[in-house]
Amino acid sequence: MHAPLDLKPVILTGDRTTGPLHLGHYVGSLRNRLALQDTHRQFLLLADLQALTDNAHDPDKVRRNVIEVALDYLAVGIDPAKTSICVQSALPALAELTMLYLNFVSVTRLERNPTIKDEIRARGFGRDIPAGFMCYPVAQAADITGFRATVVPVGEDQAPLIEQTNEIVRRVNHQAGRDVLLEAEAVIPRVGRLPGIDGKAKMSKSQGNALLLSASPDEIKRAVHLMYTDPNHLRVSDPGSVEGNVVFTYLDAFDPDEAEVAALKAQYRRGGLGDKAVKARLETLLQELLTPIRERRAALARDPATVLDILRDGTAKARAVTQGTLEEVRDGLGLFKL
Ligand code: TRP
Repeated sequence: MHAPLDLKPVILTGDRTTGPLHLGHYVGSLRNRLALQDTHRQFLLLADLQALTDNAHDPDKVRRNVIEVALDYLAVGIDPAKTSICVQSALPALAELTMLYLNFVSVTRLERNPTIKDEIRARGFGRDIPAGFMCYPVAQAADITGFRATVVPVGEDQAPLIEQTNEIVRRVNHQAGRDVLLEAEAVIPRVGRLPGIDGKAKMSKSQGNALLLSASPDEIKRAVHLMYTDPNHLRVSDPGSVEGNVVFTYLDAFDPDEAEVAALKAQYRRGGLGDKAVKARLETLLQELLTPIRERRAALARDPATVLDILRDGTAKARAVTQGTLEEVRDGLGLFKL
């Protein structure tokens, strides 16, 4: 099926509701979502069912964080008039699509997914991999296609999931003999993955190396203070390395003045620029970025009824779209009609 010409292309992305969002999410996807909400029809999915696939032992956490992540979305400037924010577990059509799509994926293909392989290793499942976890890429394919999304702004680690989605799309369309589903494209941000403040490859709350979007001024100060730089850069006059130096990686991600950052890097490499000065510049930038976010978030947190209304409204819109897709797929596959 092709997107009707008179409608904006649809975007769908989401986040597992396992904790509040951090700067890595901001760079990895939120910033793209903010830019795209004006030109696209955007849905944001609070992926509580996907969160359960590796948190079945802690459903309380998953439920509580539905609101936390919604607050983060609204605080960074996601506008509910432009973007529908919806709750995955309130969209039964997605579960039914997942059930149908599971028949179009082999177990071997699921095991080969590089994202899943990394995640299984990181979670230390050993041989006890929950089947729901193994199959979540199929559920994510249901999310993406259910909304008829063609654009999926995600971090680079999600690219294999979009690929797997498109394989399912082609198989279902082949079986249906017509294009009931649309293929989607991942939109990967310019700055790839933001490292944690300790220099580790990925910022993650569970690793303790994250800076939350809701961080207080003191927490921001402390995070910048602790940031990993060049351990061999002992004196201001010493030449330093900018590769793997988190402060410079963050300046690349957040400083709009690219020429100035290039000049600072050159000076740091030559020697004569101290960590303190670079960190002071970064701290100012991060305080400026996060202060309005924190303030909006706190104001919204005091008004849960409004947030719930936004979620109810977004989920109702999502229900209509996803139910429509489900009916087309059922039709395309020729399921029994009663
Ligand atoms: N897998 C995504 C994450 O780990 C969350 C997600 C669920 C998602 N459904 C989606 C992302 C659909 C993009 C599209 O954060």
